[in-house]
Amino acid sequence: MEAVLQIENLTKNFGRLCAVNKMNLEVGKGQVFGMLGPNGSGKTTTLGMLMSVVNPSSGGFKWFGQESTNDTRKKIGAVLEHPIFYPYLTGQKNLELTAMIKGATADQITSVLKLVELSDRKDDKYKTYSLGMKQRLAIASALLNDPQVLILDEPTNGLDPMGISEIRELIKKIASDGRTIILASHLLDEVQKVCTHFAVLKKGNMVYSGPVEDVNKGPEIVEVNADVDLSEVLNTFQGASAINRENGYFEVTLTKGIKGHDLNKFLFEKGITATHLVTKKRSLEKQFLEILAESK
Ligand SMILES: Nc1ncnc2c1ncn2[C@@H]1O[C@H](COP(=O)(O)OP(=O)(O)OP(=O)(O)O)[C@@H](O)[C@H]1O
Ligand SMILES: [Mg+2]
Repeated sequence: MEAVLQIENLTKNFGRLCAVNKMNLEVGKGQVFGMLGPNGSGKTTTLGMLMSVVNPSSGGFKWFGQESTNDTRKKIGAVLEHPIFYPYLTGQKNLELTAMIKGATADQITSVLKLVELSDRKDDKYKTYSLGMKQRLAIASALLNDPQVLILDEPTNGLDPMGISEIRELIKKIASDGRTIILASHLLDEVQKVCTHFAVLKKGNMVYSGPVEDVNKGPEIVEVNADVDLSEVLNTFQGASAINRENGYFEVTLTKGIKGHDLNKFLFEKGITATHLVTKKRSLEKQFLEILAESK
């Protein structure tokens, strides 16, 4: 894997609050990388440090194997929380202003407008744009100087279902020509739909990172026991992929989609009351949903 970004022990304290705690992470070229976490978990702070608008308290990171400089930053486009455009100017004019700052050409403006499907609205004033169009213009603006990396902070926040799906399609389209994308999200579903890899943040701590396809791997395992011998009855339970005896309990590995309460119901219908039924290992998906449901 060719690393585009290497984060080492990156830490940000705001007074006594540790917003990002010793983060270690690598993002590979071409990945769509999701920073997943609930409100206040440190996503925006992390992206801010990567864009050099927030100073790390300690630790650091490398872009393209180098310390971050003006030169490396030119290869990165970002849409952070509040993109600023002039409401009374058209989309086209707004992009012309950004192009001037970034040194992008008129052709590049035409091409990014086409990419985000705003060509036919380019001569309308920014203030007449829908929220989704505003977000697409922000993405167009970030792509103006053809950056290798695109950073997006909660790109679908506040959009209606139509707008959300347009932005998600756009992200996939942008990634399809080899660009690396790093995005923050508080929705597991969104990360599963658009990302290839992700990290889970909880109160500034990175508690997981890996490929998105692993989320559905790893079955739920429950421990169960009753006053009667369960060996035979458990063998007739359709939802088990493995049954082992472990320290006085039966350890049942459940098949995909089957939960502990399904086993409980099954036993109950056989006239057996479980004296012990504990989920030993939750699916990753369930663990993440629990983290996301917690807030600071
Ligand atoms: N400038 C600041 N001064 C003090 N505390 C801050 C500052 N910026 C962020 N924080 C705190 O750092 C923590 C992480 O905030 P951050 O905005 O990075 O979270 P987030 O994951 O982006 O949340 P959200 O999903 O709400 O956007 C929060 O507790 C927040 O209150
Ligand atoms: Mg944020």
